[in-house]
Amino acid sequence: MELLTKTLFLCAALTLTNAAPAQQADAAVEEVDPSLPNRCEGLEFDAVTPDEKGITFFFKGAHLWKGFHGPAQLSNESFKELDDLHNIGHVDAAFRMHDPDNADDHDHIYFILDDKVFSYYNHTLEEGYPRQIEEDFPGIPAHLDAAVECPKGECGDDAVLFFKGHDVYVFDTTTKTVKTKSWPHLPVCTSAFRWLEHYYCFHGHNFTRFHPVTGEVSGSYPKDARNYFMRCPNFGHGGDYQVIKCSDVKLDAITADDTGKTYFFADYSSISSGPIYMRLDTSRDGLHAFPITRTWKELARGVDAVFSYSDKMYMIKDEMVYIYKGAVHYTLIDGYPKSLKEELGIEGHVDAAFLCPNEHTVHVIQGQKLLDVDLTATPRSVTQEMPIPLSDIDAGFCGPQGVAVFKGSQYYKYQTAMLLASSRIIPRPHIITSEMMGCRD
Ligand SMILES: *[C@@H]1O[C@H](CO)[C@@H](O)[C@H](O)[C@H]1NC(C)=O
Ligand SMILES: *[C@@H]1O[C@H](CO)[C@@H](O)[C@H](O)[C@H]1NC(C)=O
Ligand SMILES: *[C@@H]1O[C@H](CO)[C@@H](O)[C@H](O)[C@H]1NC(C)=O
Repeated sequence: MELLTKTLFLCAALTLTNAAPAQQADAAVEEVDPSLPNRCEGLEFDAVTPDEKGITFFFKGAHLWKGFHGPAQLSNESFKELDDLHNIGHVDAAFRMHDPDNADDHDHIYFILDDKVFSYYNHTLEEGYPRQIEEDFPGIPAHLDAAVECPKGECGDDAVLFFKGHDVYVFDTTTKTVKTKSWPHLPVCTSAFRWLEHYYCFHGHNFTRFHPVTGEVSGSYPKDARNYFMRCPNFGHGGDYQVIKCSDVKLDAITADDTGKTYFFADYSSISSGPIYMRLDTSRDGLHAFPITRTWKELARGVDAVFSYSDKMYMIKDEMVYIYKGAVHYTLIDGYPKSLKEELGIEGHVDAAFLCPNEHTVHVIQGQKLLDVDLTATPRSVTQEMPIPLSDIDAGFCGPQGVAVFKGSQYYKYQTAMLLASSRIIPRPHIITSEMMGCRD
């Protein structure tokens, strides 16, 4: 359980990017100091980047904003040398370097101003900076419009995309070579931002999401940044955040994929317009809740139970099983959904499901029964059925430290699934705390 507690502990706050517009009325509206720029008036940003802690910085002229809400402040208060040395009142481009093989650069924030590069870590300018662009990024022109990091897996190799007009310079950080592309279909980006594996080109007060390799835009863009990336009065659909009371937490499902990312699924109809999910390893980018359809578009009505097996995620809703193959993006496997009966040999509504690390038997909770299904067998069927002392379970999880079953805002810990079924005495429940989930006590 230590792992889960540790992972849960990473959460900072339950941030909803898709809160219902109706909730806007409750949102605290920022106090506006008329001497400072107001991003709710619809600004065009010079640069947008996260820092090494995952706080997103938005730059405009001599000012910046920290995070998705809060007033503007002078950039030189956070990044002293940006105009101390050069008296340059703007940033052309900024990005957070992704180069895990090179600890001296990894997670540093790079700023490009005219033909100069500034590298910061912990808000301190690195020795030897500023430098000329060609020293750090040979082949990249001066006076850029935007830049964004693109890690291996999302781009072929660790890279930085530099934008100037419709030209995109793809700089491979390992080989230090440049490939030039032209994306005339994309608006000219004045800033570019990678957020939770997606890529955004900001232009005017709008943004357009693009594919980092092809530049392809899919979906309806542009969208107004004020609806998504900042909290503004009279702008709905997002940007707003609400912290759920810990006593109101109710999960639908929880799972960890084989790369160790943990996902929570929930349906807080009171504060969001549909089922959501949160990913726990994203604390570097802030913890955010997303509409479930953003990643699993076939599951608009949410999930009852989820478990991960090898590189696949099994998602159960009503009496259907949806199997997704996943790495960065999840895709529904051809032929799915299939019925629970056909896939796992189970009939009726399922409450929770979990698989312990390196095992091949999934444990399914259905009412007060624990059903075991051997995933290596064909066809699959229930191999063991045991009564459990608990009822109304919402979600189950198994990690290296054991099993946790969630019921409302409480959870119960067991060393093994067998102990869950065999213990007569219900253990003392643990309460989901603000420390674990960032909820409000
Ligand atoms: C930051 O910039 C403002 C306005 O340009 C200036 O008045 C102030 O002295 C600067 N502060 C620092 C710490 O350099
Ligand atoms: C970060 O900077 C602050 C003050 O500028 C300093 O106290 C702290 O030790 C630094 N942290 C690291 C990890 O370098
Ligand atoms: C922003 O996008 C909307 C469409 O969503 C468009 O009508 C508007 O002209 C755009 N504004 C700017 C400044 O790009």
